[in-house]
Amino acid sequence: MKRPLSHARSTESVNPAPFDPKQPLLPGTIIDRYQIERHLANGGFSSVYLARRLSDNRQVAIKEYWPQRFARRTINDEIEPISPESRWSFVHGKRLFLEETKALITFKHPNIVSILGFFQENSTAYLVMKYEYGKSLSTCLKERPLSDYLALSVFACMLKCLRAIHKRGLLHLDIKPGNILLRPGGNPILLDFGAVRSYPKHNRRATAIIRTPGYSPIEQYSRKNKLGPWTDLYALGATLRACIEGSKPQPAPDRFKEDKLQPAVEVFKGQYPLLMLEAIDHAMQIRPSARPQSASELYRKIRPCL
Ligand SMILES: Nc1ncnc2c1ncn2[C@@H]1O[C@H](COP(=O)(O)OP(=O)(O)O)[C@@H](O)[C@H]1O
Ligand SMILES: [Mg+2]
Repeated sequence: MKRPLSHARSTESVNPAPFDPKQPLLPGTIIDRYQIERHLANGGFSSVYLARRLSDNRQVAIKEYWPQRFARRTINDEIEPISPESRWSFVHGKRLFLEETKALITFKHPNIVSILGFFQENSTAYLVMKYEYGKSLSTCLKERPLSDYLALSVFACMLKCLRAIHKRGLLHLDIKPGNILLRPGGNPILLDFGAVRSYPKHNRRATAIIRTPGYSPIEQYSRKNKLGPWTDLYALGATLRACIEGSKPQPAPDRFKEDKLQPAVEVFKGQYPLLMLEAIDHAMQIRPSARPQSASELYRKIRPCL
């Protein structure tokens, strides 16, 4: 890895920038066959960068495994556990990051981000993706509610994605606005496979599962109910609801105690196609068995308005 000269943390610098262990890789840093252009985003487990492939100048997005709760950056850009106790979590998380890569690398789907490669450096792992222009749905929903045309298009495309993912025996388990990018023209792309799990092989329940309040259904909080396609469908329904409402829905555990979520068919009556609102309400049923059991079942509900 080569550090850009302008940012060298060397003793020769007149005024070396103070080193910050939370600092992302700096623009100009060369890593593997890529040069970092800028830092794009920080999640709980990773940092994402816009970079350029040196061989042909192609822009790419690079995701660096960096769980900030367990790990810090050293002055040499290595990522290391913050304490001996954090080592297990760091290594376990890296294994899950590799699972994300394995899950994604085999997918060729127009609405799932394409993986271009993978490498290990700086004692951590990097995922190289096609760089996608666009805005995440979480940014879009803060600006204005999605039009009925866009909401339907996102719904239909994401249902097709989920159908493909479930068919492979996988569950996404982190469908939410921040993980969907809306490309110019409104074609959405699903980005983040950091929580992916196989299904039904391990028949996994809610242990060590990432959850996002407002989007994750009740079975991701309790060990009682099994996870399945209906788990991703709840999160997709909640994502659509957030996109038309402009705020995230009441979290599932709170709904379980006292459901304050008024049905979408009542709140948005006349503003969006009825079939779409019914589909959102059906997907967001609290009880897993009351929801559609497959993406195809939900897709059939909205197909007449496409
Ligand atoms: N391939 C990509 N092209 C463009 N931007 C991306 C890409 N991948 C991720 N991003 C940006 O980085 C953000 C975080 O990416 P994500 O994969 O969700 O990482 P995390 O696991 O940290 O949540 C996204 O919301 C998006 O803004
Ligand atoms: Mg994400």
